[in-house]
Amino acid sequence: MESYLNTPIKEVITKFTQVGQILEEYQIGCVPCSVGTCLLKDIIEIHNLSEEDERALMARIAKVIYPDRKIDVPRISRKTGSRTKELKYSPPMKKLVEEHVLIKRWIALIPQVLEDLDLESSEDRQLVLEGVDFIRSYADKFHHAKEEDILFKYFDEKLDIVKTMLDDHTTARGHAKAVSEAVEKKDKEKIVKHLGAYGELLTEHIKKEDEILYPWMDRGLSVKQVGELFSRFYEADQASGQGVTERCVHFVIRVEERIRNRKEVVK
Ligand SMILES: [Fe+2]
Ligand SMILES: [Fe+2]
Repeated sequence: MESYLNTPIKEVITKFTQVGQILEEYQIGCVPCSVGTCLLKDIIEIHNLSEEDERALMARIAKVIYPDRKIDVPRISRKTGSRTKELKYSPPMKKLVEEHVLIKRWIALIPQVLEDLDLESSEDRQLVLEGVDFIRSYADKFHHAKEEDILFKYFDEKLDIVKTMLDDHTTARGHAKAVSEAVEKKDKEKIVKHLGAYGELLTEHIKKEDEILYPWMDRGLSVKQVGELFSRFYEADQASGQGVTERCVHFVIRVEERIRNRKEVVK
């Protein structure tokens, strides 16, 4: 069993497909993950399962790998903090979670924006371009930049969980570029495809960061590092200027109002 704990998860799942299904039951999404070189033991630690869940999960995996043998399930030693399930964040991590809230507000509006979209209207084209500006200026340059240039540097960037997040950021940039090009060409199909895909990608990405990545990172940071992060985030925000947040908050409020007003007219 010990050797499987030190095996990349994709190899374990390829050999024993049922292991993937068991992990999914515990909301551990290794099967769709594009990287898959996390070790089984790291996955247990990153997801911070309770002792009880860990024992049950490991016993089921052991049974799949060794169906005819009785296996002593090893307890996985943890490098980091406690096993509480409650999501509590340090001040810098809380700041990132709060930034996600504004990004989620824009994402929540995307399906309606796409449904109402008339590319012959310059107002509608402008709205999509402002949506792309939100993605580039706030979600990417203001928020993702703090993750990439500051937070992730405290960890091993070769870790799958970090690589997956970086890949998501790159994919998101590609969607933003495709949407802005499609507005120029008045290509509605392309806008629907890429803005819709952006919304889906970021929804999953934010969920992973809020529920798995940030709590795991918080458990690994010292008090000194938390303080350092907080001031470095503050400095980064000062450098990017208050204007970005204000502009992007106003954009979201305007789109929310527009959708509310349209719904009232339809009533
Ligand atoms: Fe991110
Ligand atoms: Fe994020």
